[in-house]
Amino acid sequence: MSQFYSFALIVLPFLSGLDGYFYHMQRECRYSSGDLKDLEFIDRYIFNKVEYKKYNSTTNKFIGYTEFGVKNAERHNKEGANDQEHTNLDATCRPNAEQYFKKILWHTVQPSVKVLSVKSGSQRHSTMLVCSAYDFYPEGIKLTWLRDGKEVKTDVTSTEELYNGNWYHQIHSYLELTPKSGETIACKVEHSSFSEPKIFKWDPSMSDGDRNKVIIGTSGLVLGLILSLAGVIYYKKKSTGRILVPTS
Ligand SMILES: *[C@@H]1O[C@H](CO)[C@@H](O)[C@H](O)[C@H]1NC(C)=O
Repeated sequence: MSQFYSFALIVLPFLSGLDGYFYHMQRECRYSSGDLKDLEFIDRYIFNKVEYKKYNSTTNKFIGYTEFGVKNAERHNKEGANDQEHTNLDATCRPNAEQYFKKILWHTVQPSVKVLSVKSGSQRHSTMLVCSAYDFYPEGIKLTWLRDGKEVKTDVTSTEELYNGNWYHQIHSYLELTPKSGETIACKVEHSSFSEPKIFKWDPSMSDGDRNKVIIGTSGLVLGLILSLAGVIYYKKKSTGRILVPTS
């Protein structure tokens, strides 16, 4: 399994003239597996790019890499600074790992899925359907077309998994077909955010575009009727008023 590192850097520049000398400590929590069994804490001590000393929680010892580092490590091991360093494993690395795994590594977001008919460019088939899965995380999804529950492999094309640029992805799978009356056409979606594959049926009665046209048309008709009714009422009131109030 791959390793995951977490770094905390402390950089202390000691300026002398235009150049700088940098003292730098690098703390690493190394996670080689999801169960945290081989969790390891490493603390590196670096002066001016030279790592002269390192603490390793697995051996619970400092090791030196230069003459100064070796002496320094020996002294720290004798004085118990190694045991002090070891506390970072359970105080920092372990609780952080649990957070990172839950919130980042195992975090998933379900796609929102639409199955629609689009204009077909094909001569052979009357209909082209698209199954679109939007805004899922992480990458890794499978779309399958089903006709009456049976997988369809021919006349299927798909885009790659497209990266939105905002952590989320989308994908579009196309199926060209001539639908038979009474059959069910569906898109099966498999993704880590679902505990089991999810089926999305195509509703052939109306596409989204048609539905919008109907809504706009109906609204126009209702508005027209209200205005005509208002006009009729206004006209009636005016004409009756003329009769009731005699003019001199
Ligand atoms: C820490 O020590 C263990 C045991 O010797 C070793 O396997 C591991 O590679 C060391 N880790 C690092 C980062 O040096």
